[in-house]
Amino acid sequence: MCALINAYDVRQESEMLQPLDFNRRLRLKQVAKVFKAEISNVIRLTEMEKLFHLRIVDDTDRERFTFLPGQFVMVEVPGYGEVPISISSSTSNKGFIELCIRRAGTVTGALHRARRGAMVGIRGPFGTHFPLKRMKGRSVILVAGGLGLAPLRAPIFHVTENRSDFQDIHILYGTKSPEQLLFDYQYEAWRRIDDVNIQIIVEEPNEAWTGPVGMITKLLDDVKVDPSETFAIVCGPPVMFKFVCQRLSKMGIPMDRMFVSLERRMHCGMGKCCRCNVGSTYTCTDGPVFDYWSVINLKEAI
Ligand SMILES: Cc1cc2nc3c(=O)[nH]c(=O)nc-3n(C[C@H](O)[C@H](O)[C@H](O)COP(=O)(O)OP(=O)(O)OC[C@H]3O[C@@H](n4cnc5c(N)ncnc54)[C@H](O)[C@@H]3O)c2cc1C
Ligand code: FES
Repeated sequence: MCALINAYDVRQESEMLQPLDFNRRLRLKQVAKVFKAEISNVIRLTEMEKLFHLRIVDDTDRERFTFLPGQFVMVEVPGYGEVPISISSSTSNKGFIELCIRRAGTVTGALHRARRGAMVGIRGPFGTHFPLKRMKGRSVILVAGGLGLAPLRAPIFHVTENRSDFQDIHILYGTKSPEQLLFDYQYEAWRRIDDVNIQIIVEEPNEAWTGPVGMITKLLDDVKVDPSETFAIVCGPPVMFKFVCQRLSKMGIPMDRMFVSLERRMHCGMGKCCRCNVGSTYTCTDGPVFDYWSVINLKEAI
């Protein structure tokens, strides 16, 4: 219980309290509550990933459900278990949430077999978020590797839907092969938004690939920003965000202005079970979003 109280102290930040449009006590009840949700659509993205639209069945709960970019939900598949999944949709989307899910094992495998109309449970939203209000008026570099585009998609929607609030926006995305690229149907739409620089790179091109080839850090060679006026959001496997953050650091961007999302095995998602902690830090409530300075000072975090 102590950890739970600490978790919500983290939420004292004024920005954090804003979307919680009902009072704190009710909020605590809400995060423990399981919302019954219908899988209203399933879109196959790649061999391994599918995009799920989840619609909370109860009208009032659906209206009230809000989240911030970077937060996650616990998805329960009856008879199989529960897994943490980042919310991958725009915060302005009120009818349903989107989750991009890779087939990894028991629960995600069951979800991949589920059809439209199937029912699941969702709890949340949980965890910290990317501090987009702090980034207002500045340039933002958003970098994702592989499945990292799933948590990055919500902040991408935020900066593109509020384009005039930011200076330069750079979206950089890389995967091993073109077949693994997620949301490729969306890049053109993001590109068409006024003055957004989006670049995609793959390590192992196929014959049809005409874009850049190499590691994602290569894309940073062409990014020109004033480092004192720039924030970065980096999502992907730890080895990737380590290299990207080191490169951003060389560009002069302070480590406490780079934000990453950490993944740990989770059980409760709300600071009760001690499954996800790194030392005394709970990834589910103190994170999953951390600034890079905190991450490198967190022993065994990466
Ligand atoms: C905050 C957070 C957000 C996440 N967001 C997404 C997302 O948007 N999309 C998505 O596809 N996945 C996401 N994950 C990972 C997802 O939760 C795991 O893939 C899932 O729990 C695996 O459960 P399973 O029952 O299918 O696999 P299991 O049968 O439990 O395990 C299968 C394999 O996956 C590995 N695994 C299990 N959990 C994790 C984990 N947390 N991190 C890394 N490897 C794991 C196991 O070691 C094992 O090798 C997120 C995880 C966290 C903590
Ligand atoms: S304390 Fe239970 S998942 Fe973090």
